[in-house]
Amino acid sequence: MRARNWLFEKFHSAALAHGFEEYDSPVLETEELYTRKAGEEITQQLYNFEDKGGRKVALRPEMTPSLARMVMARSGALPLPIKWYSIPQCWRYERTQRGRGREHYQWNVDIWGAEGIEADAELLSTLTHFFRSVGLTEDDLVIKVSSRKVLEEVLGSLGIEGEEFAKTCIIVDKMVKLPEDVIQAQLAELGIASESISTIQSVLGISEFRDLEAALGSDSESVRELSSLFSLVESYGIGGWLEFDASVVRGLAYYTGPVFEAHDRAGELRAICGGGRYDRLIGTLGGKDLPATGFGFGDMVVMELLSSKGLVPDIPSSVSDVVFSMGPELRGASMRVASSLRSKGHSVDLVLEDKRMKWVFKHAERIGARRLVMVMPEEWSKGKVRIKELDSGEESDVSFDEL
Ligand code: HAM
Repeated sequence: MRARNWLFEKFHSAALAHGFEEYDSPVLETEELYTRKAGEEITQQLYNFEDKGGRKVALRPEMTPSLARMVMARSGALPLPIKWYSIPQCWRYERTQRGRGREHYQWNVDIWGAEGIEADAELLSTLTHFFRSVGLTEDDLVIKVSSRKVLEEVLGSLGIEGEEFAKTCIIVDKMVKLPEDVIQAQLAELGIASESISTIQSVLGISEFRDLEAALGSDSESVRELSSLFSLVESYGIGGWLEFDASVVRGLAYYTGPVFEAHDRAGELRAICGGGRYDRLIGTLGGKDLPATGFGFGDMVVMELLSSKGLVPDIPSSVSDVVFSMGPELRGASMRVASSLRSKGHSVDLVLEDKRMKWVFKHAERIGARRLVMVMPEEWSKGKVRIKELDSGEESDVSFDEL
């Protein structure tokens, strides 16, 4: 918990430094909120059940649909843009492995009601602010950026649009994980011709932005958008963290524009975080669309990376003082001493039973206390307590009033 709290504190700070406000939502949602037709993994990983009233419900596998539902419910009433963040616990029935659990915490940072690429750039700044705050550098990881519009333009020219487009993205996203023939079979099942499959594969292999420009032409919308994103991030001084990579598609159907994922440079771990623009999610929930962009950032992969680099600090306990009394007749006095120290803002662990001196020393050391405050018969009769500084071993008698 100390390590987790340290990590969460860094999440909070990066979001607050960028003017985001924290929100929360219920853990349990209607199953319907997650049933989308594009064949995403996430919809097959639901922890769902029927409640006592016969309602089909699910533990949230991600935060974005809950956020969309809430924004939709207050649409028109909330001043735009909405800049909100949260650190929800999420549940997915996944095969557990390094960096993947069936429950995880996921820092979510989203901006609603801002159409321009500036919002996406601001998210990337929030992300790198966090990375820097935990001691990670651009040598440790890379944020790979692409846009759904790249694929949209390519697939559009092949006549693949709408629902089919979302389904194709979900399959294409699995290209690195599944064998080529499986991917080809899945694409063919959607009715995509084999020449079109080769076109898709060659475009997804582009990892240099100028090659994309050459392939799509400089008047292509995705090229223009990504090129202004790359120039904006230079102003934040974070250009070195980003790389164009057309293979980043993301496994969720709702993305519509720029998408990104952070990966460790060594390529040993799964994606550290991921996000992108999703301007049409509310529409799919039956509301009026509102531009939105954001990211989700799990606690597990980043902790793996931080531990492997020795960047998780040894966080001391917050207890400053251990107070104990010699003998049960001084118990009341030790309570007075503890109360007084606590009222002055100290974190005090009061020894509640009769214990030997040796035990008390060991205990204080184990919990990382800095001082031992001993209530002893002779000293207390003069209104004093004995204080031992645990680092130096120095002892002194201090009157209760001066504590
Ligand atoms: P996602 O890529 O499914 O996106 O998840 C985002 C991040 O959550 C992953 O990169 C990873 O860090 C973490 N994560 C996901 N599943 C697990 C798991 N089983 N165990 C550990 N960590 C996990 C989304 O969920 C989008 N809703 C993000 C988003 C927010 N897009 C826009 N706004």
